[in-house]
Amino acid sequence: MRVPGVRVLIAGSGGREHALAWKLAQAAGVESIHAAPGNPGIAEIGLCHPVRAEDGESLLALARELGVELVVIGPEGPLVAGVADELRHAGIAVFGPSRAAARIEGSKTFAKEVLAAAGVPAAAKLAVARAPCVVKVDGLAAGKGVFVCRTAAEVDAALVAGAVFEGPLVLEELLEGEEVSVFGLCDGRTVIPLAPAQDFKRLGDGDTGPNTGGMGSYSPVSGLGAAQVEELIELVHRPVVEELARRGTPFVGVLFAGLMLTDAGPKVLEFNCRFGDPETQSILPRLGGDFVGALRAAASGDLAGVELSIDPAAAVTVVLAAKDYPSSPDHGSEITGIAEAEELGALVFHAGTARYGDRLVTNGGRILNVTATGETVAAARERAYLACERISFSGARFRRDIALAAVCEPGPPEGVVHSES
Ligand code: AMP
Ligand code: GLY
Repeated sequence: MRVPGVRVLIAGSGGREHALAWKLAQAAGVESIHAAPGNPGIAEIGLCHPVRAEDGESLLALARELGVELVVIGPEGPLVAGVADELRHAGIAVFGPSRAAARIEGSKTFAKEVLAAAGVPAAAKLAVARAPCVVKVDGLAAGKGVFVCRTAAEVDAALVAGAVFEGPLVLEELLEGEEVSVFGLCDGRTVIPLAPAQDFKRLGDGDTGPNTGGMGSYSPVSGLGAAQVEELIELVHRPVVEELARRGTPFVGVLFAGLMLTDAGPKVLEFNCRFGDPETQSILPRLGGDFVGALRAAASGDLAGVELSIDPAAAVTVVLAAKDYPSSPDHGSEITGIAEAEELGALVFHAGTARYGDRLVTNGGRILNVTATGETVAAARERAYLACERISFSGARFRRDIALAAVCEPGPPEGVVHSES
């Protein structure tokens, strides 16, 4: 039985939100977990309420009715739309940036302007669309608004495809290197690093096929121990958070930098104003310390002195997606084998599922996220894939090469991977 404590409301319904709910449900001092709208996985550890994450007014009414001490907003949509402001103005503690600060994700032009003002290295802006280059839609595009062009034909196709979206196009230099996701927990001034991760955006093995919301992730990333992450946070996150504070729009929440580690040093590809999905599923199992305390401290501008630790164990997450993802979702196909996967020690996060009576069925594009931990990335990976084999639904597809390169590449220098705690 739980002792009376904090009631937390999580806004969102994906695998990221299930991972947040799972982590927070274990925290000492958390009385209950609520989600709006949540999903069947979250319903096993908390209470789900039929309120959309984008509906600020109903979310506020729900937060008041439940008397929650903290609201955590998962997805970018409600953040960019200003849902955090609505709650905060009503006196509710919110983990998630204001509309003004969330523009760092909502507008690529704004992000570039902030980066330049803060003196943070980033992909250079180009005046003309000439290969090689990257064409980006300025606003939110659910991961579908970036076109990496190596040939003139690809540039032409990108300009046509980009024109479908609202808002202008941004052109930038094409960067080469290793891509990493680096996360900082922010209270408006202070930034605490979380574990880094890599995600897999393309649908197919070997990074082929269309871009997706993400087909898998793993953490830690070879060569990025605590010292290196701290350097990246100092180079990228702290100047940006300082610049946003200077503008009177302090950033409260997770500042997620997509970085390219180029031969000329790290450069920013993009910012997100929230936890990554599916990176969070690999990061949170490794996180130690008082997570709910840290989120509350961030929400109240009081993160200085808060310490979180990172477990040296590795985590790998494989996304099980619908047959025709990302072009179309699947609904109503029965899902079996989750308990068997969990028996192997894996965590199974729901991303696009629904419950009809006793049956769990598909309800989306990315259906489940299977996460496993292990002493090494290789061990975590093996366990994650064994667990995936236990789960079935009609047309289930997943990449077979999540974290494969990390396992095959020569090991990092002694002590680097395991120096994070
Ligand atoms: P985004 O949807 O903004 O995360 O971008 C999707 C993907 O496009 C990124 O994860 C990178 O792989 C790639 N990308 C974005 N900008 C660049 C760039 N300037 N150079 C090379 N690749 C890029
Ligand atoms: N995995 C990338 C994202 O959350 O945007």
